[in-house]
Amino acid sequence: METIKTIPEMKQWSERARGSHRTIGFVPTMGSLHEGHMSLVQKSVSTCDVTVASIFINPSQFGKNEDLDTYPRNLEGDRRLLETAGVDVLFLPSPQDMYPEGYKTFVTVEGITGHLCGQSRPGFFRGIATVVVKLFNIVRPHTGFFGDKDWQQAAVVETLLRDLNIDATIKRMPIVRDADGLAKSSRNLYLSKDEMTPARSLSRALELARHQVQNGQFSAERIRREIRQLIEKNKAAHIDYISICDPDSFIEQDEIKDESLIALAVHIGKTRLIDNCIVRREKCKE
Ligand code: PAJ
Repeated sequence: METIKTIPEMKQWSERARGSHRTIGFVPTMGSLHEGHMSLVQKSVSTCDVTVASIFINPSQFGKNEDLDTYPRNLEGDRRLLETAGVDVLFLPSPQDMYPEGYKTFVTVEGITGHLCGQSRPGFFRGIATVVVKLFNIVRPHTGFFGDKDWQQAAVVETLLRDLNIDATIKRMPIVRDADGLAKSSRNLYLSKDEMTPARSLSRALELARHQVQNGQFSAERIRREIRQLIEKNKAAHIDYISICDPDSFIEQDEIKDESLIALAVHIGKTRLIDNCIVRREKCKE
């Protein structure tokens, strides 16, 4: 596996790959890799001719009081995982190269970013949209791989690629969980032993909601109440949002429709976790 640290070298590499008609798969990450990231990497390696993975802890998507400085870093471990998985290039741009002095341009996706995480983290999706456009311009992938764990992020990326006429498609991959249902996240490393039970309440609450829908409970208010009750049994848990909404527009729904997204953001101590699932009025997606 080759490691590329500069933007011109990355561009040259991609130009060569495209020149020899190889399809480029791209997995953008912020590192501290786990099985969730690796499911995207594996999909890219198995479906594209060459795979680029990037690790860049993007400052523009962190709020002032968020965890930019403490965000987990594990470059050597990440490198080993990517190499073993068959990644061709690890792209490691520096913050100075990505956002040099005098940097002025940001990308805003309107509408869908006003809900869920966009509402509780102002500027978050502006930072993500900006870095994704920059990374896609540098790496020029045919396919970018994104996880459903960050459902709204994947929707924002799909929207900006379409609106800005960027010739790449997105492949979305299902949420990878641990044996107890907790969605894999780099931020799980922040959780203390005592916080593991409250952290698991997110997936347990989604499971409960799914069962309720299966049993004919379609009232969003009732389902939201049950979710809240289950999560708030844990003193360490503080709910940011419980949303039952349209999976594309993120507009809240009063009742479960043909397809509804249930999305949660919960603070467990100092760690903010998100999780989601799709439910259907007829049958539930696993
Ligand atoms: P990061 O949190 O490192 O996640 C990188 C990719 O891995 C995202 O597409 C995310 O949805 C996916 N992912 C994370 N946990 C997952 C899980 N448990 N199951 C499946 N996929 C999972 O998301 C970002 O980085 C950044 O915002 C980024 C897109 C790199 C822009 O800075």
